[in-house]
Amino acid sequence: MDMKRVSTGSEILDALLDGGFEADTVTTLYGPSASGKTNLCIIAAVAAVKRGKKAVYIDTEGGFSVERLKQIVPDDYETLIEKIIFLKPTNFEEQRNAFGKLSKLIDDDIGIIIVDTVSMLYRLEIGKTNEVYTINKDLGTQISYLSEISRRKEIPVVIANQVYSSFDDKEQVRIVGGDLLKYSSKCMIELMAGRRGIRKAVLKKHRSIAEDREVVFKIVDKGIEEVKG
Ligand SMILES: Nc1ncnc2c1ncn2[C@@H]1O[C@H](COP(=O)(O)OP(=O)(O)OP(=O)(O)O)[C@@H](O)[C@H]1O
Ligand SMILES: [Mg+2]
Repeated sequence: MDMKRVSTGSEILDALLDGGFEADTVTTLYGPSASGKTNLCIIAAVAAVKRGKKAVYIDTEGGFSVERLKQIVPDDYETLIEKIIFLKPTNFEEQRNAFGKLSKLIDDDIGIIIVDTVSMLYRLEIGKTNEVYTINKDLGTQISYLSEISRRKEIPVVIANQVYSSFDDKEQVRIVGGDLLKYSSKCMIELMAGRRGIRKAVLKKHRSIAEDREVVFKIVDKGIEEVKG
């Protein structure tokens, strides 16, 4: 049986992933600030809508920008944005509720679920309460729920996740709440930001592609563009 792939909205990412996101799993995009996570999330949402579906966009950081959407799809951003269902939790309690709402939203019209990002509120909350165990458990529940939806409904889930360290760090980057994601997410892409706007996406885990396949790109008005070495 062919694995169902769903376009990422970018030809170069589709090539990296032999066709696109796998529909039946969680894909994690992780990297430091400004590495391009939100850009890829917006592009993925646009692609889902262009396929005639709706996109669920859980925006925990206010990272989504209408201005940016307008640059990517100048002509039809207004009709497009109507097909994106936004959930904008501002604390962990609201994030929990957002996930409650999600189950009611899931139908055949939904072409992708995006969580940008999963760790932010988690980090804030840990800082505040120190109830590491409870929060961890909740986050675990949320992530397994997403992974279950993708498996059962074949709706690709894309989770963006911020990491502490930067491009220049030789040490391996740490994902906040990372272990939880590492296990549920069958595809992991590391994003790195280098000098002069050069960025890199490296495939770190995939069920059917060798790891460390990569693509160098830059962010442009229309989306992302390959930078050939
Ligand atoms: N039209 C554009 N042309 C070129 N670069 C752009 C454009 N729009 C945004 N950028 C760049 O995109 C970068 C931000 O990318 P993005 O928001 O995807 O990062 P992120 O990984 O989500 O970061 P964070 O973790 O802070 O949310 C910035 O460096 C910004 O300069
Ligand atoms: Mg972002």
